[in-house]
Amino acid sequence: MSVPKPFVGGNWKCFNNPEQVNALVEALANTEFLSKDQVDVLIAPTSLHLLTVHKQLNNKFLVAAQDVSQFTEGAYTGSISAAGLKSCGVEWTLIGHSERRTCFGESDAVQLEKTKKALENGLNVVFCIGETLSERQSNETMNVLIKQMAVVAELLQKFPERFVIAYEPVWSIGTGVVPTQEQIRDTHLDIRKWLVEQCKENGEGMRILYGGSVKPNNAESIYTIPHVNGFLVGGAALDAAGYAKIVAATAVAKL
Ligand code: PGA
Repeated sequence: MSVPKPFVGGNWKCFNNPEQVNALVEALANTEFLSKDQVDVLIAPTSLHLLTVHKQLNNKFLVAAQDVSQFTEGAYTGSISAAGLKSCGVEWTLIGHSERRTCFGESDAVQLEKTKKALENGLNVVFCIGETLSERQSNETMNVLIKQMAVVAELLQKFPERFVIAYEPVWSIGTGVVPTQEQIRDTHLDIRKWLVEQCKENGEGMRILYGGSVKPNNAESIYTIPHVNGFLVGGAALDAAGYAKIVAATAVAKL
């Protein structure tokens, strides 16, 4: 089985200042990235600027929402529906980011509803999973990750080509602490095994991203790890040149 085409996502989180966004958009437009044939590159701006950024950068990058509503439409104050995103030309969404799970108390059941709505409405999904430090320390990592993925198992089986999985240890997000090469290798291998069990050969081709303190100076060594098919990047995605370097790391040969 050949190595899946790499995928890199940049999550801008809650950075809403228009000057910052405009400057970043301009820098991204003027920075050279690997070609679309080599790698899929996604950016997920804050919803306040999503459509503007989509209009400006849709020809160069995949543009995603950071979250999607579990509801279809109607009286759900503050929500953005999958149908609404799709009708505005947005084709991707993140789902299950640890900040949604933790800061907004979203359960696995909510992730399932969101994923259903996204798929029903033609969106593609970057589905995020990850363990906390205490779960890692008590050897619960794979139990936690499997539980998070299992809620969408049927959907993964039915629509494998619409998913990218992002493994993001919660303790590594925004902390500068990166797991060891062995920890990443073992976890990605176990995720791959589970995906293959569930989705047979489609599980071989599904991209598994690593996320958590990915920077221009560590991306290449992380990408060499088997079954790391790209990255989900937070802080370092706010700098166009650095983000381009992270994307370029996916051109390095796999181990
Ligand atoms: P970070 O965030 O790169 O700033 O650690 C990763 C993420 O939340 O996706």
